[in-house]
Amino acid sequence: MLETTPERSRAGGARSKSFYIETFGCQMNVHDSEKVAGVLLGRGYRPAENPAQADLVLYNTCSIREKAAQKVFSRLGEFKSASKEKLIGVLGCVAQQEGEEIFERAPWVSLVCGSASYRKLPELVAEIEAGGRRVTGLDLDTDETFETEITRRDNPYRAYLTIIEGCDYGCAFCVVPRTRGPERSRPSSAILNEARRLADSGYTEIQLLGQTVNSYRDPSPRGMGFVELLREVTAVRGIRRVRFTTSHPNDFTRDTVAAIDSTPALCDHIHLPVQSGSTKVLRAMRRTYTREEYLEKIFWIRSAQRPISITSDIIVGFPGETETDFDETMSLLEQVQYDALFSFKFSPRPNTQALDLTDTVPEEEKGRRLSILQEHQRQIQIARNETLVGTTQEVLVDAQHTARGQWAGRSTSNRVVNFTSPRENLLGEYVSVKVFRAGPNSLVGEHVLQPI
Ligand code: 5AD
Repeated sequence: MLETTPERSRAGGARSKSFYIETFGCQMNVHDSEKVAGVLLGRGYRPAENPAQADLVLYNTCSIREKAAQKVFSRLGEFKSASKEKLIGVLGCVAQQEGEEIFERAPWVSLVCGSASYRKLPELVAEIEAGGRRVTGLDLDTDETFETEITRRDNPYRAYLTIIEGCDYGCAFCVVPRTRGPERSRPSSAILNEARRLADSGYTEIQLLGQTVNSYRDPSPRGMGFVELLREVTAVRGIRRVRFTTSHPNDFTRDTVAAIDSTPALCDHIHLPVQSGSTKVLRAMRRTYTREEYLEKIFWIRSAQRPISITSDIIVGFPGETETDFDETMSLLEQVQYDALFSFKFSPRPNTQALDLTDTVPEEEKGRRLSILQEHQRQIQIARNETLVGTTQEVLVDAQHTARGQWAGRSTSNRVVNFTSPRENLLGEYVSVKVFRAGPNSLVGEHVLQPI
């Protein structure tokens, strides 16, 4: 239960202080907020239900695609008058990118901290509590990961677990190396201890996280590689499902497919962002692989004994992308038959190499390409999901839609499955669902009471 009593004391006052974190962006950001919440709980803060009731309001920002900075500044503007009673902090990618500029444009902000400095958060929070007005954590030059004693996990069924932070690739479009810092893997013992603690506290599904999760290299003497780590995490007693995201195609090796084939607890899903189907554009993007090399990896996955679902990210309208290049992306879609796709119009980001390229594709044309791509992908998903009608899927139930009389959860391939059941109290349970209908984004079925 969250506290609802409004507290008007300034952080640092005698009464228990409260915090509220608003999070934008990817799973890594969501999980960072969970860890930041853990740090604050460890310092005696309690969660507030909304920003108005909180003594400390933190914005965990994302700048991967949109003009995020403007949005953050306008959101911060809403807190100008309230800032006499509360402390305001900006975390994440926009914090890292804009740095001290934030204090200039929004002087009521007290804390600006990028993710590579979260390990210093306890000290930074102590500084604000002691009356510090312009506290920053903007160092990118780190080889440490963000370890926390407590992490407040917001999803009671699927736990995120970071295995690697930052990124050493230099993709021309991407802010991540500049906002999250260099790649650094966590020692395997820390990861496995956390996995055991998660299992002990009742979690059965773990999602391993990293910007390039499969570049994992254990820095401790045990020297585990990614696949060995996968096997160890799945071996933790009580863990029934292990997922991982995001894999970089360059580091994707055949033994990951072999591990999925031989380890039922490893989910049959791989997110393998391709970004473009044209080798020319891939080169301009500095993605380090060609279309053919990527397709070879897809072939490995498709050759598995277990069907493995494949999802991807695509950018349309990268500088220099011609109609022919775009056609190659369309033909790649046709060839791969992705189970789901996240697709975006290219947008120039600060401090990236693509900023130096001329943004040749007009906005309207980017939009046209994106709609063609998304419509084609929709048809692919309808067809792929229809092949699952009549099958029985194991679903981890994570939601109940009382109004619709339905339950919902995810299959191991990460599909959303909505279903009816004569039973009650299914949240957190693994159930067998017979699929009788399919749409582009979900399956519909009914609970079958005998095991799969
Ligand atoms: N423009 C458009 N899309 C981008 N992405 C990353 N940077 C950009 C950008 N500048 C997309 C990529 C990445 C996903 C998380 O966001 O597809 O894989």
